[in-house]
Amino acid sequence: MCTPGMSKSSPAATEAAPQPTSMPRIGDPAPDFRAMTTHGELTFREWAGGKWTLLFSHPADFTPVCSTELTELAKRNAEFEARNFKLIGVSIDSIHSHLAWVENLTKILGVELPYPLIADTDKKVAQLYGMMHPGESATVTVRALFFIDPKGTIRAIIYYPLNVGRNIDEVLRVVDALQTTDANACACPVNWKKGDKVIVPPPKSMKEVKARKELAKQPGHEQLDFYLTKKSL
Ligand code: BEZ
Repeated sequence: MCTPGMSKSSPAATEAAPQPTSMPRIGDPAPDFRAMTTHGELTFREWAGGKWTLLFSHPADFTPVCSTELTELAKRNAEFEARNFKLIGVSIDSIHSHLAWVENLTKILGVELPYPLIADTDKKVAQLYGMMHPGESATVTVRALFFIDPKGTIRAIIYYPLNVGRNIDEVLRVVDALQTTDANACACPVNWKKGDKVIVPPPKSMKEVKARKELAKQPGHEQLDFYLTKKSL
């Protein structure tokens, strides 16, 4: 366990020395690693086993916001599994701390974590994935989420600061949007949720503009202009 920094103005945050870190980006291959977890030692890509994965960091064990987030993810694990997603958490706490916290969460909240937690005491994973943001905290990871597809490509990244818990509905919305756009060669508009109309990619030639006008006459299509067409799936 470690004492997390609570705000940007804490001395630890302002005196942070820059640390070597990589910041993987959307479209990059997800860095592979070997790590100790609450489910035993594993190699990340091997563990993923060709499924989608959500790799998320939490700042520290035995902290209130993290307790709400990790138990909510546990309660909704079946919703991720139904989407072919595996969850894996990481913090820089020790395996002993993780094991004690997992037991404590079951005791106080009645929730068992079905997914592994990585004990990243040497900050290897945190550095590989750019989860240390020294301006926010010199000592612990921020709340990061990496959405990784079955080919091992990073498809979306979300970061939250220490004092804001994540919205799991939004995390699942991103999962649905990624899988829907992959399956249907489309895009998702603002506030899209599963079942809503999707965006048909804009035409790239006059020929396609003409074809798009015809397409828009089909049932389930809504055309506001040649570049803005929505359709039901
Ligand atoms: C929390 O999970 O409550 C927390 C963790 C680190 C810093 C601030 C809050």
